Amino acid sequence: MVRCPSCREVFKVKGLPGDVKRVVCPSCYTIGKVVFDLKEEMAIEVRNLTKVYGDLVAVDNISFSVRKGEVFAFLGPNGAGKTTTVEMIESIRKPTGGVIKIFGRDIRSSFDEVKERIGVLPQEFKSFERLTVKETLEYFSTFFSKTISVDELIEMMDLGEDKNKLYRDLSGGLKQRVGVAIALVNDPDIVFLDEPTTGLDPKARREVWRVILDLKRRGKTVFLTTHYMEEAEYLADHVAIIHKGRIIAEGSVEELLKRYGRGITLRINGSPLLYDALVDSGFEVEERNKGVTVKVKNQESIPEILSILRKKDVEYESIDICRSNLEEVFLSLTGARLSGG
Ligand SMILES: Nc1ncnc2c1ncn2[C@@H]1O[C@H](COP(=O)(O)OP(=O)(O)OP(=O)(O)O)[C@@H](O)[C@H]1O
Ligand SMILES: [Mg+2]
Repeated sequence: MVRCPSCREVFKVKGLPGDVKRVVCPSCYTIGKVVFDLKEEMAIEVRNLTKVYGDLVAVDNISFSVRKGEVFAFLGPNGAGKTTTVEMIESIRKPTGGVIKIFGRDIRSSFDEVKERIGVLPQEFKSFERLTVKETLEYFSTFFSKTISVDELIEMMDLGEDKNKLYRDLSGGLKQRVGVAIALVNDPDIVFLDEPTTGLDPKARREVWRVILDLKRRGKTVFLTTHYMEEAEYLADHVAIIHKGRIIAEGSVEELLKRYGRGITLRINGSPLLYDALVDSGFEVEERNKGVTVKVKNQESIPEILSILRKKDVEYESIDICRSNLEEVFLSLTGARLSGG
């Protein structure tokens, strides 16, 4: 169905994906063009997915899609339903209801085929204490018909120096990297990483982030589960925020900040005249020690503020620009903090 932009009449136009058709409105005769979208193949499609444990609805009728080649972050606090969802997609847990498709195939009927195309790093992953890194990867390779060579994998994950060390002797960051390497033994198209950086120090976390960006560069689709908003902000093309089993917001980080964030705050230090100059120009200003705080909707207001100060000859020493973040988005949607506490 198409709605005429002039008279708002709704009428039917037939076509196939990729077609561009010239149309005439049957009511007001306005001439226009209709473009039929090429349907992009989705890596994952989830429709009305539900999981009930006894009295608890852990995943409550959620629907979302993951595009091929993107990093999709499933962001939510402890107990939100992330692992339950991701493990239903991986066929580890059985849904109470709903449909899951991977590359267009329903996983209930095509799991053997789908299994070859996905790799999984489970939450709180642990491997065999007494196997070396190399032996571990060789062992996991035996489960799949398609694999990449263990040497290639070791090089790809930068594990060369540690390949002969026992798993139990590795640092937390290295253990996690081995976990990601195991998820890649079958050269999968989709990689599921459930909280891959929980408990890691900042340096080890950065290393895992580098690995994730590298996977994306190689064309893999990454389904990342996390409760760190900065991880989602740094890595994700698309974020779905899950809270108490429901998806409460979805979009790119920019879209979410625009829709639910509180805009941009400028902290300007300098002349006592700052307050009057900006209030008189209609800005939302608060006085603070040695300056003011100004709330603006978008960054286009920043040059406007600078030009007002210049015109009014008001001097300032420094300007700090503070953007909204996903933590604020979560707070404004739920009234609770994402990071707890
Ligand atoms: N096997 C189970 N039996 C009963 N309840 C469960 C089971 N697994 C999970 N739950 C409950 O379902 C809810 C969602 O749990 P889930 O592990 O999916 O959350 P999560 O978002 O992954 O949390 P976290 O960030 O702590 O890993 C929680 O209330 C949890 O206690
Ligand atoms: Mg979990």
